[in-house]
Amino acid sequence: MVSHDKKVALTKEYVHKELQNDPSGHDWWHIARVTEMAKKIAIEENADLFICEMAALLHDIADEKLNASEAEGIKKITNWLETIEIDKPAIEKIIAIISSISFKGGGQPALTSLEAKVVQDADRLDALGAIGIARTFAYAGSKGDLIYDPAIKPRESMTKEEYRNGKSTAINHFYEKLLKLKDRMNTDYAKKIAEERHQFMQEYLRVFFAEWKD
Ligand code: ADP
Ligand code: NI
Repeated sequence: MVSHDKKVALTKEYVHKELQNDPSGHDWWHIARVTEMAKKIAIEENADLFICEMAALLHDIADEKLNASEAEGIKKITNWLETIEIDKPAIEKIIAIISSISFKGGGQPALTSLEAKVVQDADRLDALGAIGIARTFAYAGSKGDLIYDPAIKPRESMTKEEYRNGKSTAINHFYEKLLKLKDRMNTDYAKKIAEERHQFMQEYLRVFFAEWKD
């Protein structure tokens, strides 16, 4: 019988190998930060620590950017969990968490467990604060987007037509997504951290625009 600790260690190794060269913002260190944060939140919220840790480690393995389809990504994770002999109910829980948090757009299943809320909060917190700002500029750079362009409106204030044809910028990503996240946290512990990171981002934007005018 392989211990939980051993299963976590093997999974870290597996995820590290899968993501070490990933250019899409899902590098290993994002996973490491989200996993540590998920553990902290899980303890505060009395969630199942093992399930949270495993789901956090694997949460980006099924990402559409890394797989031909969502189903294929989910299959990959299921195969891995079977390989390390995780029992069926735990596999189902972990898969339910990952499919409810990681897919963008329509058809997202509702968060059904406390553990899903914990992992989603941990993932969202990594998009905020100083590290969230760094990730935003890195992501925008990798897509060829500008840092900022006063002529480009945030997508949320574009018409449908403009949205379809329009570009975005790194700064606009704050308005499109990052500044909204603090009100979308599930757990009280994450809400507190999100509030601090939110204030830091607002201060960052204040200075950014002050310098832009100079
Ligand atoms: P995750 O699911 O791990 O949060 P995403 O793929 O949604 O990852 O995003 C990766 C990182 O890139 C996040 O920090 C996110 O805020 C940022 N990001 C996503 N879309 C954009 C965008 N259009 N412009 C700038 N940054 C973005
Ligand atoms: Ni993530």
